[in-house]
Amino acid sequence: MQGLYFPLWFEIPVASFVALIAYFCYALRIPAHFRVFPAVPISKIFKWAYYDMGPYEQFKDMREFFIEHPTFVMWNGGRWKLMTTDLDYCKDIFMRTNQTIEKAMPNPEYPESLFRKFIGTSLAFSNSEVWRRIRRIVGPAFNYIWPTRVIGDTAIRMFRAIERDQAANKMLTMDIYLGRLTMDVLGRTAYGFDFNSLTNPESKYAVLLSTVVKKLTNPFYILFPFLDGIPGLRRPKLNEQIDELDRMLFGVIDMKRKELAEKPIEDRANTDMLSLMLEACQDPSAPRITNKELRDNVVVFYLAGQETTAGALGFWMYEMSKNTDCQEQARQEVLRIMGDAPEDIIPTDEQLKEFKYLVASIDEAMRFHPPLPAIVARETTVEQKICGVSIPAGERVGTNVVAMHHHPKHFKDPDTFRPERFLDMQEPKDGRMSPYLPFGSGPRQCIGKNFAMLEARVVTSMMLRKYKWSLKMRPDGKEPVRSPPFDLYRFENLDLNLETRY
Ligand code: HEM
Repeated sequence: MQGLYFPLWFEIPVASFVALIAYFCYALRIPAHFRVFPAVPISKIFKWAYYDMGPYEQFKDMREFFIEHPTFVMWNGGRWKLMTTDLDYCKDIFMRTNQTIEKAMPNPEYPESLFRKFIGTSLAFSNSEVWRRIRRIVGPAFNYIWPTRVIGDTAIRMFRAIERDQAANKMLTMDIYLGRLTMDVLGRTAYGFDFNSLTNPESKYAVLLSTVVKKLTNPFYILFPFLDGIPGLRRPKLNEQIDELDRMLFGVIDMKRKELAEKPIEDRANTDMLSLMLEACQDPSAPRITNKELRDNVVVFYLAGQETTAGALGFWMYEMSKNTDCQEQARQEVLRIMGDAPEDIIPTDEQLKEFKYLVASIDEAMRFHPPLPAIVARETTVEQKICGVSIPAGERVGTNVVAMHHHPKHFKDPDTFRPERFLDMQEPKDGRMSPYLPFGSGPRQCIGKNFAMLEARVVTSMMLRKYKWSLKMRPDGKEPVRSPPFDLYRFENLDLNLETRY
């Protein structure tokens, strides 16, 4: 019988399309051992991506599901993951990390992913012996640093940038200033490098770094990391931009090594994390770290600390703009402690310790909107019982922090912004785990927590003295903010009416 033939130009695209569909069908199948758990329908994932719904919007879209089912499976980052908001299960997962459960590495099966290339081998993205070695070197950098003055000085730069833009009638949205603030703070404290993005937003490395991070967190490449390996979809320009950034970083590392070889660090409170790590390596009993690992770690301090802190500050400003009585109460506390002289004042370390309501309002903003909405998943290294079910090695488990923070079992009246709840909140007793997880839990808890909270206290107290603010609604009466669906949780278009107090 005569066969039916099609030309090659037709067959190749059709075969590729069929292969892609087959791949998706395979990737979207729930593994057998997860089928005992309820699943977030895959249609919801596509809906959230399509309608650009951020993590809290996603939670609201399926509130009953998340409240009724503390343990569920969800497709995320190219695979199904087991998630739980049950505190006993969470404790089991997070406290056992580094034993039979390790931190999951992003997409090891896709080495071509540019995200993987960028993050390298660092504290956040390593396990076992490598993690312990890096932790010994990185730890001292976080214990010594107390850079209140650098943070306060950068907040003053932000005020000047806002004034400049207001005078030129081109006031930007607040999330943009906060992103630049946290970039400049981290550049100065992590590498001793001034990105200078507040004073000169066009400065070369500020633009390069934010472009690279923005492209790397493109939701499609996060959801489908294999795209970086597909001809036609690869991103050679991004690859070159990462290399350019690396050349700058290796240059800074070489310079710091030379500086340290010439003279020891004199002013520890005003040095940077990179110098402190290099100093830690000088101890002959200390583990070795290569230039590449130093580069990977400072990149990860930036990745882990810049958008998260900017996000936390943005959520706080947003909630304070909607809850103006809370804003005023926090302001009165700050004025009582720092005074009301009409000038920019950086709080002292003693004053910072006195802020109680202010800190409660920051905590509450991160409860309502945790900057990391799903804690970096853990991966089983051997078959074991998790959430009451036997799970084979190589599966991902974790928690959905938004669902945890909005579960009425853990927080009374969870959809109300109420800082007071943190004023009288007690740490859970008898070894139970806290449901408040903006910085994670267990041995892999955020190492930058104290640094981030210091930055938040300095910046928010200075903001409250300098401005009063409210949300600028859109002409159609809707709120201006939006948040990306599968990224770090943050607000874009945070458009505020800022009233200057002095
Ligand atoms: C409000 C700001 C921040 C939030 C909400 C936040 C949140 C988190 C969370 C949830 C984790 C994962 C914990 C886990 O897996 O159990 C983490 C890890 C980490 N964070 Fe932060 N973070 C913030 C700021 C920072 C800053 C400023 C830095 C550095 C300067 C930093 C550096 C890190 C590092 C290196 C890790 C990995 C720790 C490890 O795996 O051992 N973070 N952070």
